[in-house]
Amino acid sequence: MKNLLILTALLSSVAYAAPNAEALYDTHCLSCHAPNRLGGMGPTLLPESLARLKRPEAIKAIADGLPATQMPGFKDLLKPDEISALADFIYTPPTHPPKWDAADITASRIVHQDALTLPAKPVFKADPMNITLVVEHGDHHITVLDGDIMEPIVRFPTRYALHGGPKFTPDGRFVYWATRDGWITKFDLWNLTVVAETRVGINTRNVAVASDGKTVLAANYLPHTLVKLDARDLSLIEVIPVIAANGKSSRVSAVYDARPRNSYIAALKDIPEVWEIPYDGRPPRPIVLQDHLDDFFFDPGYAYILGASRSAPKGQVIHLDSGRKIAELDLGGMPHLGSGITWDWKDSNGQTRRVMASPNLKDGLVTVIDMQTWQPIKTIPTAGPGFFLRSHEASPYAWADVFFGKHRDVMHVIDKQSLKIVADLKPIPGQTATHVEFDRYGKFALVSIWEMDGALIVYDAKTLKEIKRLPMKRPVGKYNVWNKTRLSEGTSH
Ligand code: HEC
Repeated sequence: MKNLLILTALLSSVAYAAPNAEALYDTHCLSCHAPNRLGGMGPTLLPESLARLKRPEAIKAIADGLPATQMPGFKDLLKPDEISALADFIYTPPTHPPKWDAADITASRIVHQDALTLPAKPVFKADPMNITLVVEHGDHHITVLDGDIMEPIVRFPTRYALHGGPKFTPDGRFVYWATRDGWITKFDLWNLTVVAETRVGINTRNVAVASDGKTVLAANYLPHTLVKLDARDLSLIEVIPVIAANGKSSRVSAVYDARPRNSYIAALKDIPEVWEIPYDGRPPRPIVLQDHLDDFFFDPGYAYILGASRSAPKGQVIHLDSGRKIAELDLGGMPHLGSGITWDWKDSNGQTRRVMASPNLKDGLVTVIDMQTWQPIKTIPTAGPGFFLRSHEASPYAWADVFFGKHRDVMHVIDKQSLKIVADLKPIPGQTATHVEFDRYGKFALVSIWEMDGALIVYDAKTLKEIKRLPMKRPVGKYNVWNKTRLSEGTSH
């Protein structure tokens, strides 16, 4: 009997030592973060979703809450070991793979407006083709800027954590964006209102819009699918499972519109294939590769992709029609081809060639390659690895950030003909300067100061003089309607 008592005491102390995280979740978190951690009013809490959140930050969020949001603090309600168990729990994969199928997608759809009943002209005076959207990650907002004078027209809240760039219809009226947790939003820029929303997945990378404006295609990490929606009202057209011939499925890193091909192209993360998905509903065409390519660049005619992979040391040039590798790219480090840009460059004989330049995620350099021979013609040393390189047809300069390392407050300005750095800007010492985007005419260059209390700095693109600063909450990407819909050579698409 006495032994039994000791055993019971021991058992209960064991139970105390290991709080039941799942039960705690159901009691305290489920109401906002939803059953199975799939996300509802609060974001999805699965390991894939939390890739950018470090465990100590998660513990702090659970204990103290997140200021100026609806996430409450639990330190008065839960013991430290319970909070710690909850943190472990949210980084643990669920026992059953989470499901998000056609029925879930269809049931999630919210139609806010019938776009046909809204006036087909802008409610503002600004040039609708020179609008620039700024995505503010710090507090999940979008600012709409008048590109002629660089003044905000409106600022509004979005769903949690936009992922990938917003994509415009060719007329510039509608814009679509994806969130980390799988929501696709259609927004009417002329009426400044949300039209419809559909949740296409649990963890989503980005969305692309067909150049005929009829469909949108979303790339998912979770589940392993591509989801095609009707561009008018975001109703579901098709769920495309991403499975190779050998039965292995894959996450989709990103999807792009390939306008001249009347198709979309998808980059796959887990199988060495790139998929071409025709607009017209024919089945995807897998292009089988030697290596995984999860970061790539299209030549301006969409005949080739230039791809890099984390596993292979050299980049590759793939001819899309034949599916063949036609050249290797000897670029060194880890080129960020997805951020590559092109322009016409005159060589020493006065001959014009199309060149492509890309920043490098690992080494402090920008590489310039000849797009006919695919050979590097110049390596420009920078103050550290960078993320974005940007320019505009009307500008003689390319702007390269130094995103990683101690010089992340520096922005290099490169002369596109001499291929030399001609100016180093340091907008705010000690604060990360990144991602440049231009207005429609290439008159202004906008630099993001990527901090919670950050800013957008407007430069005169010719004189490189600062014109003004607009305060913003961790602004990252900027998207100009004209440059994005007209496939400006100085930005990505
Ligand atoms: C009243 C609703 C609500 C409850 C209850 C709630 N949360 Fe949250 N939680 C939110 C919202 C909203 C956010 C997003 C805040 C923001 O905008 O940054 C959030 C964010 C978080 C984040 C940060 C996610 C990220 O991607 O950065 C974590 C971690 C988190 N919650 C964990 C929990 C846990 C664990 C519980 C239960 C103990 C819980 N939350 C209870 C609403 C809630």
